[in-house]
Order: sequence, then C-alpha cells, then structure tokens
Amino acid sequence: MTRYRPYYIILHWLSALLVFLAFFIGLAALANTPNNDEKLLPLGVHITLGVLILFLTIARFIVRSLMGRPVYRIQQPAAAKNRKIPLLDLLSGYVQPLLYLFTFLMAVVGIAIALPADLFTIAFTESGKPLPVDFYIYPARIWHGTLSLILMLLIGQHILSFVYHQFLRGENFIGRMWFQRAKNKEQQ
Ligand code: HEM
Repeated sequence: MTRYRPYYIILHWLSALLVFLAFFIGLAALANTPNNDEKLLPLGVHITLGVLILFLTIARFIVRSLMGRPVYRIQQPAAAKNRKIPLLDLLSGYVQPLLYLFTFLMAVVGIAIALPADLFTIAFTESGKPLPVDFYIYPARIWHGTLSLILMLLIGQHILSFVYHQFLRGENFIGRMWFQRAKNKEQQ
C-alpha cells in the first residue's frame, strides 16, 4: 500500500476541516436565519472559508495533477490481500474527481451570489448597506443549496468507503492519508 506525500496530506485535511466548517455555518447560521445585521459575522466567516476552499481546491488539483501521486509504501495487514472490488470502490473512482469538481462549483456559485448581492462590501466593510431581503432573488442561491446536497452525498460515500476499508476489511486505509512513517524503505 502507498501513502501520499506530507504536503498533500496537509492539504487534504485542511480542505476537509474548512469544508466541514463552511457546511456547518451555512446550515446552522445562514440557511434559516433572516437577513439582518446579526447575520453579517457568520456570513463573513462563511465567505472567507469558501474563498479559502476555492484556492485550496485549485492548489490540490494542480499538486495532484503534477506530483501528488503516492510515493511511499506502508505495511498492509494480511486481511487486505485477495481484495475484491466492491461497489463502494467502483464508486470511489468517480467520487474522488467529483469531490474536487463539486467543491469548486460550490465556491464559484457562492461567489455568484456574493457579487450581485455586493456581499464583499456589505460583510467586510462598514458601508452600512443592508443585506438583500432574501438571497433567493439570485438564481445562484438555489444552485448553492442543491450543490450542497450533492456534495454532502459525495462526502458521505467518501467516509463510508473509509469505514468499510478501515474497519470492516481491516486495512490500514487511513495510513494513505496520515503521517505514518514508512515501515519499509521501499519507494515507488
Ligand atoms: C465549498 C465551499 C462552500 C460550502 C461547502 C458552502 C456551504 C453552504 C451551505 C451548506 C449553505 C446553506 C445552503 C442551504 O441550506 O440551502 C450555504 C449558504 C450560503 N453560502 Fe455557501 N458554501 C461554500 C462557499 C461559499 C462562498 C465562496 C460564498 C460566497 C463568496 C458562499 C455564500 C453563501 C451564501 C450567500 C449563502 C446563503 C445564505 C442564506 O441563504 O441566507 N458560500 N453555503
């Protein structure tokens, strides 16, 4: 089994954390909250996270395309031998690129709400300008909500695949994405 380079592992977990936080703030503090001044803080944090996620996703895509392939071999328990390809593995081949695509789209569509609503001014300067009464007046708002559901499903498959390999098949699956020392010196 192989594992990724440390900088790639850091990018992965940083993206996961920021996406989780953006989701949490979007659902808990934005979606069902009236557009008043109290919403400015969570909105500003959400937008900051979203823009960071956009840059991180682009960086990860470039790093992965250019040099993000696994490099080290790590030890694999015997249970991992004779590995069949279940439906989950088949799906993972599609889900992994789709995770990049939908995270990217989520952030771009977020910006497509923010620009016409002038949110970069309203949330980050003391312009005193009010928020629009409802973000649904912008077509991108419905897409942001719809894409968030699809992204949730993709992340769900990603986590399920980890649980299946790590706990049901007894493989050291997380080892690919963690800072484990290579047990043998063999390199790819
Ligand atoms: C990958 C990054 C992002 C994630 C995971 C995310 C997630 C979410 C979620 C889950 C919601 C609630 C959706 C609903 O329940 O219908 C939401 C709402 C929203 N997001 Fe994002 N978002 C991201 C990026 C952005 C960016 C970059 C911006 C703006 C620059 C943005 C602006 C907004 C706005 C304006 C709302 C609507 C709040 C409302 O209706 O009151 N988002 N986001």
